[in-house]
Amino acid sequence: MPELIRRIKPSTAMENQNSNPETNSVGPPSALTYLDPHYWDERFSSEEHYEWFKDYSHFQHLIKSNIKTSSSVLELGCGNSQLCEELYKDGIVDITCIDLSSVAVEKMQSRLLSKGYKEIKVVQADMLDLPFDSESFDVVIEKGTMDVLFVDAGDPWNPRPETVSKVVATLDGVHRVLKPDGIFISITFGQPHFRRPLFNDPKFTWSMEYNTFGDGFHYFFYILRKGKRCNEEKEDEKCSDPSISLYQDELEGEDYLFRTRIDDDED
Ligand SMILES: C[S@@+](CC[C@H](N)C(=O)[O-])C[C@H]1O[C@@H](n2cnc3c(N)ncnc32)[C@H](O)[C@@H]1O
Repeated sequence: MPELIRRIKPSTAMENQNSNPETNSVGPPSALTYLDPHYWDERFSSEEHYEWFKDYSHFQHLIKSNIKTSSSVLELGCGNSQLCEELYKDGIVDITCIDLSSVAVEKMQSRLLSKGYKEIKVVQADMLDLPFDSESFDVVIEKGTMDVLFVDAGDPWNPRPETVSKVVATLDGVHRVLKPDGIFISITFGQPHFRRPLFNDPKFTWSMEYNTFGDGFHYFFYILRKGKRCNEEKEDEKCSDPSISLYQDELEGEDYLFRTRIDDDED
């Protein structure tokens, strides 16, 4: 196996966060800090823009083939990302962003107003307790936000019950606020074998499929279609796992939520 390409598995600990001179962002000393709302308020008070995982250009084709311009969209945990602006530029105007951080919300509101994107609503809210009516959105989307819930998961094959209950509370809310034929898009590096058991809880009526994007390291673009649960006995290719590989040097340039452990055992 080439030296720079190894199989990976996520672990429960956090990658030491990298300084990013371009965005002036510095990660916390421990992954658990991502669960602390004060961390986000403090970070957003000095950081103007940081794009977790990849920017819009890398998955725009997937957005365009899954979201109509007439769709009502709820974005979970917008932070200071440009995702909502990019959706808007692509013609999607009915957008509501939420974030737990009041600083993120205030700064996003003024940024959007200064750019003239008045239709985009930004609301301080907890994704674990969504303050919206049932069946009110065509699309719910998140990028790296649910990953925060996994930082104290422990064994990723057998996450702690506390982690599972927070993830399921979030998914319950997303499923509830989606219209009967709505879709949930989750953009993450959480691999299908770890996400599928949660997404496929029997109480959810959605089907699960995913695409990957990114160079070398694959990020996952999950699409859960409400009311379209697939027959698991007849899963098509989209339901099967791709092999995961990555270039180690790419890992070192990213702001990761999880420590990504290079699995030397498999050499
Ligand atoms: C890893 S950042 C991702 C930001 C953005 N989605 C992006 O792609 O760059 C996680 C974001 O989720 C927010 N967040 C954390 N817990 C949350 C919760 N329970 N409800 C809503 N937002 C939350 C944080 O304030 C932060 O903005």
